[in-house]
Amino acid sequence: MAGHQQQQLVREARHLAPGASEEAALGGRVFAEGRGAVLTDLDGNQYVDFAAGTLTQSLGHGHPEVVAALTRQAGLLWNVHDSSTPERAEFFELLARLLPEHLNTYALFSTGAEVVEAALRVVQSTAEPGRNRVGALRHGFHGKTMGARMLVHWDVGHQAFSGNSILGYSPYCYRCPLELTYPSCDLRCATLVTRHIAQKPNVSALVFEPVLGAAGVIVPPAGYWERVSEACRENGVVLVADEVLTGGGRTGAFLASELVGAEPDLVAMSKGMANGFPFAVLAGRDELLRAPAASPAGAYASTYAGNPLGIAAARATLEVVARDHLIDRVRVLGERLSEQLAALRARFDVLGDVRGIGLLHGLEFVRDGSSRTPAPEIARAVYTTALDLGLRTSVGGHIIRLAPPFTMDEALLDEGVRLLERAIELAVEQVPE
Ligand SMILES: Cc1ncc(COP(=O)(O)O)c(C=O)c1O
Repeated sequence: MAGHQQQQLVREARHLAPGASEEAALGGRVFAEGRGAVLTDLDGNQYVDFAAGTLTQSLGHGHPEVVAALTRQAGLLWNVHDSSTPERAEFFELLARLLPEHLNTYALFSTGAEVVEAALRVVQSTAEPGRNRVGALRHGFHGKTMGARMLVHWDVGHQAFSGNSILGYSPYCYRCPLELTYPSCDLRCATLVTRHIAQKPNVSALVFEPVLGAAGVIVPPAGYWERVSEACRENGVVLVADEVLTGGGRTGAFLASELVGAEPDLVAMSKGMANGFPFAVLAGRDELLRAPAASPAGAYASTYAGNPLGIAAARATLEVVARDHLIDRVRVLGERLSEQLAALRARFDVLGDVRGIGLLHGLEFVRDGSSRTPAPEIARAVYTTALDLGLRTSVGGHIIRLAPPFTMDEALLDEGVRLLERAIELAVEQVPE
């Protein structure tokens, strides 16, 4: 890295508060432009973007149809609070076609944490008296506002604050907290979630990521969600799927819940909705979102809730996803990626686990395959070396996540994996044993 980027970083450091993501801090890049799956930095270096922005750019950067929709809307109208605008009805109809039939009522927001908070308000306002607790899963991530933080039981960018939430085991087979092995475990983790959350009379809802993203793409084994969902339904515990990361097609279905066998009552979506423009949707059963207790005047309003620019970007994004059958494409590319990553896992002992579904994969770096000791230093070395080679990924602790745009072609996908392989080779040489 050289020249203009370095000058720019030194200049802004005089004023920038610390606390940026590991990605930004370690990467030290100044990105100037994005086209499709390729980013260009201020010094003209290019990167294949396997992180798709912040796992946002399902259609890649600068998709012409999203740019056209935003440009058109930018010339017309930006904000009228949450009043109706001409595209909103059409956007809702499009959502209704893409989502399972029972999720037919929507409220619009602008960030992931904001939509999770809105879901919590719905739960809180409609809960029976005495149901004053909310269930959450270990390793879940739901955002950094206070309500969302209450559901996060690990220090991810801030200290955990469990508040009024009850913790259940996530299906983290690679590091099973019960030291069992699937399938002989008979999904004991799900049984315990059932016992500690679903069957507790003081629990109103379970907020969950159907595939746990930030903690390293933890994909549940078959049967986990069926068991937990059924128990929640039987006991009147509302199922709130946080699909902020997975919603919009990334896992190979519009909702990851559909793939893992969870049938949520409320769903929060954001990243995949508007191709990187700040936008979020709370979708739910009408009896919940229209419940008088949940929906007094102003309940779903906020300054940017449903702003016309967000609606324009979201409508254009989801129309392209539907028209170009991109969710089918996610499945095809996901298989291809998965096969190539399995070969890397077989080659490198430091690659303890590789997990994924659709175009969302997590690589877990360890000191060695037998101890499974997390190795953040190796993940960081892989991340920075990959950047130097021209590949951008997403790093956090000892995990690297890969989430390429749905529109990437096979050749670029293969090239990205080749760069990743080279980065792992070099990182293993660099990091002392
Ligand atoms: C599953 C999940 N929920 C909520 C959030 C919070 O979203 P935001 O950063 O837009 O507040 C994230 C962000 O990564 C997420 O992955």
